[in-house]
Amino acid sequence: MFCFLKMNQHTACLALFCLIMMVAVQANDETNVQYKDCGHNEIKSLYLSGCNVHQKSCILHRHNKNQLRLGFVANENTGKTIKTRFICNLAGLEVGWPGIDGTDACQGHGLSCPLTKGQSYNYNLDFSLGDDVPLVNVTATVRLEDEQGGKLACARMHISLQA
Ligand SMILES: *[C@@H]1O[C@H](CO)[C@@H](O)[C@H](O)[C@H]1NC(C)=O
Repeated sequence: MFCFLKMNQHTACLALFCLIMMVAVQANDETNVQYKDCGHNEIKSLYLSGCNVHQKSCILHRHNKNQLRLGFVANENTGKTIKTRFICNLAGLEVGWPGIDGTDACQGHGLSCPLTKGQSYNYNLDFSLGDDVPLVNVTATVRLEDEQGGKLACARMHISLQA
């Protein structure tokens, strides 16, 4: 049946097929994390290196460069600063990730602040763990906060810190 199509129809079909494949592949690698939305479903996609949708925990190694990509929709018009919160819960003890927690998400993370309510944004964070990180399993919360401490996006996931 396909062989009897005229050349231009054939090409169009092929192009459509490719487009569908591309969309499918892209949708697949946007979110690779089993996470809990601890905000109000602002998050549209979450990618973190070392994660796999089929695994409960993400595995982060000490010397790897890790990447986090967070796609979300702004739930308000923000000011010019947004705070990154990166908090690990180690058996009930909350620890802010040194060098990440409390830093300005508007500087060098792909966001152009102020954000506009209803618009989609991508927040990028590249980080490495360093030598002195304890090799434990933690629950990590990544949160973007406005100037009043209100949540713009919040994700919680399990991370296994390994050598
Ligand atoms: C930490 O998480 C890893 C990966 O999920 C698992 O294999 C390991 O048993 C866990 N260790 C502890 C002490 O819970």
